[in-house]
Amino acid sequence: MALSAVWLLMNWSTDDWATLPGPPQGSWLTGHLPQLNTPQVHRFCQDCAQKYGGMFKLRLVHMRLVVVSDPLLVQTVISRGGGLPKAFRLYNTVDELFSPKSIRAFFNTHSYDDWKVVRKVTAPAFSPANVRKAFPVLLRVTNELCDVLAGKVVAGQDVVEMSEAAMRVTLDVLGPTAYGYDFKARTYAYCEMFEIIPPLLGEFTLRSTNPLRPLVHRCLPFLPAARKYRQRVQACHRWWEVLAKSVRAVDLDKAAAEGDTSLRVCLAQLPFDDDHLIPNIAAYLIAGFETTAHSIAWTLYEIASHPAVQQRVEAELAAAGLLGPAARQLEFGDLAALPFLNCVLKESMRLHPVASTGTIRVADKEMNLGGYRLACGTLLWVPFITMLTSNHNWERGEDFWPERWEMDVPRLVAASASGPTAVGNAASPAKTYLPFSDGPRNCIGQNLALMEARAVLASMVSRFTLEVAPEMGSREDVRADEVMKLTLQCGKGIRLKLKLRQ
Ligand code: HEM
Repeated sequence: MALSAVWLLMNWSTDDWATLPGPPQGSWLTGHLPQLNTPQVHRFCQDCAQKYGGMFKLRLVHMRLVVVSDPLLVQTVISRGGGLPKAFRLYNTVDELFSPKSIRAFFNTHSYDDWKVVRKVTAPAFSPANVRKAFPVLLRVTNELCDVLAGKVVAGQDVVEMSEAAMRVTLDVLGPTAYGYDFKARTYAYCEMFEIIPPLLGEFTLRSTNPLRPLVHRCLPFLPAARKYRQRVQACHRWWEVLAKSVRAVDLDKAAAEGDTSLRVCLAQLPFDDDHLIPNIAAYLIAGFETTAHSIAWTLYEIASHPAVQQRVEAELAAAGLLGPAARQLEFGDLAALPFLNCVLKESMRLHPVASTGTIRVADKEMNLGGYRLACGTLLWVPFITMLTSNHNWERGEDFWPERWEMDVPRLVAASASGPTAVGNAASPAKTYLPFSDGPRNCIGQNLALMEARAVLASMVSRFTLEVAPEMGSREDVRADEVMKLTLQCGKGIRLKLKLRQ
C-alpha cells in the first residue's frame, strides 16, 4: 500500500509529462539512475536523443528531467529572455570543493545578485585586448612545454599523454594571469594539482547523478574512497588559501594607474571578504584548466587519426612559415589566419564537447515547450553532446568532418528534423553549435580558451608529426573508454607517438 502511494506520487502529474517520449525505466523506484550514474552518462543521453528526438523524458529517483537537444527549444531554455535559472540543487555537490565553509561561487550560487557582481567585475579580464595580453605568457609556456616534449622524444620516450601535457600549459597560463602564481607544471616537475583535481572532478560527476554517494561517504568515513576524497578536498582548500593570498597582494591603485584589468586584478576588485572570494578563485581554476586542455587533446587525437587532415594542417602552417625546425615564431595574428586548423578545432569540439553533460535548468513557472505543457519545477537538461552530434541536428553527426565548416551555411545542418519525435528544425549553425553554452550563463572564458587551443595546436603540429599510439586501439575502443569527469576525457588519456620534424 505504502509502495503504491510512493509510486503514485512519483508518477502523478497535472501536465503533459505522461505523453512525453522517453526510454523505459529500469526500476520504478530509481527510474533511470543506473543509466545516469555511470561515467558514460553522455552516451546514454546521446543514444536516447537519436531514438526519441529533440525532447524526451528521464526520471532520476524522484526528479523529472526533460532532456532537450532541439536547437530552437534549447534557445528557449538557455538563451531567450536570459534563459531559465540553473537547477542549483544539482550544482550543490561542488560546494564542498569550492569552499571549506560551503560558500558558493558565482558558477553555482543560488543568488542572482552574487552571480551578477562576479560576472560583471571579472568580465573585463576576457576582453579581446586582455586575451591578447595573455598571448606572450601562453607562447612562452607552450614553447617550454614543446622543448620538454622534444627532450622526451630524443630520450626515446616518444609516446606522450596529451591531456596531461595540455593541462600543464593551461594551468601555467591560468596561474600567472588569474593568481600571479607559477605552478611550473610545464617542467613536468611534481605538481599537486594533478593529484587532486582530476580525481575529484570524477567524484563530483558521480555525486551529481547519485544523491546517495555523499551520504555513504559521510556515514562510512573510514572507507578508503571516503578518506581519499576528504584528503583531496582539504588539499584543495589549502591551495585556494595560497591563491587567495596572492590575489589579495594586488596593488589596486597601481593596477588602476596602469589600466591592468587582468583576471587577477578583477578578482582582487571583488567586493567580498576572503570567505566569499575563495570559491570564486576555485571556480575559475576548475572551469578554466581541464576544459581547455581536454579540448586540445581531443583535437590532437583527431589530427593524428586522420593523416589527410594532418597534411592539410601542415601545408597551412608551412605556407605561413610556421612548420618545422626553420619555422618563425608564432604570432598572435597568425591564430586567426589558419582557417583549416580552426575548422579542425571547431569540428573536434563538436564531436568531443568537453562539457558533454551541459547545463540543467528549472522551469520557474508552468511553461509550454515544444507543444508540451511542463509543470513549474520541471528540470530541463541540455546535454551538449546530444545537441552537437545528434542526427536530427547534423548531417553525418557522428563523423569527424572538419570540411563541413568550409561549406555554405545551409549544408552544415540537416535540412529537417529527422528524429522520430523531433519537435523542431535546426535554425542555423550558430544556434546548433554551442560548445560554450549560450545566454547570460555562457562560458566567460571562451576567448581565452580558443586562443590557448589554437596556439598549442599550431605549436605541436609545427614541432612534431603525430601518430595515435597503438595502445589507444581503434576509434571504437577510444569511444568505449570515454569517461565524464565533469569534462569529457578518455579513460586511458590521449596517448600519441611524437616524431620531431627534421
Ligand atoms: C574549451 C574550453 C572550455 C569549454 C568547452 C567551456 C565550456 C563552458 C560551458 C558549457 C559553460 C556553461 C556551464 C553551465 O551552464 O553549467 C561554461 C561556464 C563557465 N566557464 Fe567555461 N569552458 C571552457 C574554458 C573556460 C576557461 C578557459 C575559463 C576561464 C579561465 C572558463 C570559465 C568559465 C566560468 C567561470 C563559467 C561560469 C560562467 C557563469 O556561470 O556565468 N571556461 N564553460
